[in-house]
Amino acid sequence: MGSSGIPVVVLGLGEIGRAIARAAASRPDLTLAAAVDPAFAGRRLRELVGADVPDLPVLASDEEAFRAAHGGVVLHATGSRFDAVLPQLEAAVRAGVCVVSTCEELAYPWLKHEEAADRLDALADERNVAVLGTGVNPGFVLDRLPAVLAQVAGPVRHVRATRVIDVATRRLALRRKAGVGLTEEEFEAADERGELGHVGLAESAMLAGRGCGFDLEEAEVDEESAPLVAEEDGPGVKRGRVAGIHQVARVFVGDREVVRLELQMYAGAEDARDEVELDAEPPVRLIVPGGISGDLATANAVVNAAHAVTELRGLVTVLDLPAGR
Ligand SMILES: NC(=O)c1ccc[n+]([C@@H]2O[C@H](COP(=O)([O-])OP(=O)(O)OC[C@H]3O[C@@H](n4cnc5c(N)ncnc54)[C@H](OP(=O)(O)O)[C@@H]3O)[C@@H](O)[C@H]2O)c1
Repeated sequence: MGSSGIPVVVLGLGEIGRAIARAAASRPDLTLAAAVDPAFAGRRLRELVGADVPDLPVLASDEEAFRAAHGGVVLHATGSRFDAVLPQLEAAVRAGVCVVSTCEELAYPWLKHEEAADRLDALADERNVAVLGTGVNPGFVLDRLPAVLAQVAGPVRHVRATRVIDVATRRLALRRKAGVGLTEEEFEAADERGELGHVGLAESAMLAGRGCGFDLEEAEVDEESAPLVAEEDGPGVKRGRVAGIHQVARVFVGDREVVRLELQMYAGAEDARDEVELDAEPPVRLIVPGGISGDLATANAVVNAAHAVTELRGLVTVLDLPAGR
């Protein structure tokens, strides 16, 4: 357990925040200085996380925690929407602390929140800190990974990347997000209410496009989602019910599609994988059989970015991180 590394604070202690706390505690170059989550305030971090982490009390508010981490990094895992987490990010930045966050929209916040993103960028610059959104998706599989592969390619004509997840083996929260077990009508209604699907696919598409060298100044992005209906009884789903969701995000330059990302999350997927294909010279195709495990990989991506982010300034993306850890 680190005692003289960069001070880090974990903000948000859901499944992901707990995994981040465990990953941070195992790193000698980081010192886990505080943990904040009003939902667990007063509990002991060690009891909550169930591992060899410092025996800290979980705090209800971030002020004291940010003081403990001055000059360090907030490891942030409280929500997916940029608007909702922005006050938390601003508070950290004002306190002089860098942020590495799993907030999906923060991976490329200019897509849907351009003005607020520019303001956060200016604030972080002024306070001499950096703010980064990362994780496995967004943050790696469908954006940084294609960009890394593009390093060996000539001009890229098209990027295609696909992630297939068997949600039967994953957390209940993910099965709910995929709509497993709903009728098609229930699926459409829940989708309409914004309750279904993965947040961040369009952000990944922009990052992948930029990382593969496209000029996206005038680009258009579209997103679609559709239910995948079970053709036979399967794990946790009856025939005729929704087994999961199929999402697509595409980036167009003029009328030419340059990026196509697909995410299929359904119960009983037998071909779970991450796949990236660059139409380029030479062509590049990479398949990760089974796909990269979500929660653990996300915690590692956050913790592994903690050092690098202290060397950066402003609102940055995973494309600004050095390769490796
Ligand atoms: N980029 C990626 O690859 C990736 C991967 C996995 C997850 N994620 C995202 O990471 C986030 C965390 O995931 P999760 O599954 O752990 O979510 P979760 O179960 O919703 O946990 C979030 C926790 O943060 C707490 N919280 C809310 N506002 C807070 C605040 N201001 N200060 C401190 N704590 C606060 C919540 O408390 P309440 O319940 O009381 O609100 C909750 O305990 C989610 O948005 C998820 O979608 C991203």
